[in-house]
Amino acid sequence: MNPSNYKILVTGGTGYIGSHTSVKLLQEGFSIVLIDNLSNSSINVLNRIKELTNINFDFIEGDIRDKRLLRRIFKEHKFDAVIHFAGLKAVKESEEKPLNYFENNISGSIVLLNEMDRANVNCLVFSSSATVYGEPSETKCSEDSQLCPKNIYGQTKLIIEEILTSLKKIQPKWKIVNLRYFNPIGAHPSGLIGEDPNGEPNNLMPYISQVAIGKRDKLFIFGDDYNTTDGSGKRDYIHIQDLADGHIATLKKLLQGSPLKININLGTGKSYSVFEVINAFEKASSKTIPFEIISRREGDVGEIYADITYANDNLDWSPKFDINDMCKDAWRWQSKNPNGYNE
Ligand SMILES: NC(=O)c1ccc[n+]([C@@H]2O[C@H](COP(=O)([O-])OP(=O)(O)OC[C@H]3O[C@@H](n4cnc5c(N)ncnc54)[C@H](O)[C@@H]3O)[C@@H](O)[C@H]2O)c1
Repeated sequence: MNPSNYKILVTGGTGYIGSHTSVKLLQEGFSIVLIDNLSNSSINVLNRIKELTNINFDFIEGDIRDKRLLRRIFKEHKFDAVIHFAGLKAVKESEEKPLNYFENNISGSIVLLNEMDRANVNCLVFSSSATVYGEPSETKCSEDSQLCPKNIYGQTKLIIEEILTSLKKIQPKWKIVNLRYFNPIGAHPSGLIGEDPNGEPNNLMPYISQVAIGKRDKLFIFGDDYNTTDGSGKRDYIHIQDLADGHIATLKKLLQGSPLKININLGTGKSYSVFEVINAFEKASSKTIPFEIISRREGDVGEIYADITYANDNLDWSPKFDINDMCKDAWRWQSKNPNGYNE
């Protein structure tokens, strides 16, 4: 396939995963248009993407719930596919403001789907999440494992997955994949783009990075009495570059008309404990990470990792980076950009 024949709309394109995937899309030769309301990202991302690729692209500052705006965009551009990253993703906040999450994530996706359909664009890669598994009975989750999200955020992902599954079943013209990401971490190896959370980070890696750079005093570890190798929680971390590659691989397959299962896990198939991540980060940064062990967090499981057999066998994709690479790149980004995109 020749990517330069295809134009892709990237929603949430200035966000963490959207920006890394956009760089890859441009480098592969795809034409792209980004839309983002900048509610959780910075306009400065655009210059960094341009610096990395030397390729021009359109950016629209706007909200995917804005039906009129989307109609205009789909009229102006002839898209072949959409990669849909736009959404709110903070678990704790989703429990505090459930309606915001239902409205933004679910209504936003429905507006987008309607406008795609009007414009006859029926190819979609959707950002789902391993949170749809909740507290699975087995530590290794395949796409067929039981689904039982434990929070509102995960529920919004599952509801959208269900809508997309029904749509594809009833109207086979739709080519859809829900990518269930495990724990994306790390940054582009250039240190030009990376994860820049607003306020207190929700996830382990940005928290560790902020402790290392001196923005936070210590890391809080939620429980060291799990039934795991060292008692701390074990998760499947995937390098953001591998995750971005997973999107390119999926998109190419969909555009070529390859039949794919609708739900696909993207992880590495390995799990690392909190202590193992801290050790790898200390090695990468030559910094000591002070920590305090506090009680378990409601809804957390001891260990969960992805069965990535399907992605390996069907996407011409496999993850290349290990936890040391992830920590090195996360630290390069953090140390080069102590205040994130706020230069
Ligand atoms: N990062 C993770 O750990 C992770 C894990 C699993 C799934 N996901 C999902 O992947 C997607 C991307 O995640 P991310 O980590 O890049 O998050 P992010 O917050 O960095 O990126 C999401 C982007 O969407 C934008 N956005 C939100 N609502 C919007 C709206 N209504 N209209 C237009 N733009 C809007 C935000 O401004 C942000 O730039 C999200 O849907 C998230 O739920 C993320």
